[in-house]
Amino acid sequence: MRSTDSQPLSARPEVTARITAQTGLDEEKLTELVHRFYGKVRADPLLGPIFAARISDWSPHLERMVAFWSSVALMTGRYHGAPVPAHAGLPVEWRHFEHWLILFRETATEICTPEGAAHVIARAERIARSLHIAVEDAQPRTVPSLL
Ligand code: HEM
Repeated sequence: MRSTDSQPLSARPEVTARITAQTGLDEEKLTELVHRFYGKVRADPLLGPIFAARISDWSPHLERMVAFWSSVALMTGRYHGAPVPAHAGLPVEWRHFEHWLILFRETATEICTPEGAAHVIARAERIARSLHIAVEDAQPRTVPSLL
């Protein structure tokens, strides 16, 4: 959706306003969450090198991730990307996703209200499981051919 000064930054403004009232989450909070979380990811010995191998300019990635979380958590429809192909070729197993979730839960708990943290953590856990399945499906099959 195009956003102008006269238009709210949401596809469904009343839904977004209700979520903000219930959770304390808004664009500013999500921006803080994304920036602090990826600060930890970049410094992390397990995940940092995987990101460093693919992302040289962090500004557009962080902007994209704020738009993603705005769509996921506030239902604004701001994100128009494709997360599955972005992860399909990554050298990751479930332990990487688990570690990603540990850092995400920690950051959400530091920054958000308890309701806000629960809201984003539930969604992150769900999406991590789907991305893990997508990564597994993209791996070459090890089942021997019968032919
Ligand atoms: C093992 C854990 C993870 C790793 C190592 C990882 C790594 C990456 C990398 C390297 C990119 C950039 C891809 C590129 O631009 O070439 C990316 C993009 C992205 N990641 Fe992850 N990720 C992980 C988990 C997650 C989870 C759990 C979520 C969501 C809750 C997520 C959401 C996204 C999104 C939305 C993008 C942007 C995709 C696009 O529109 O291009 N990632 N990730």
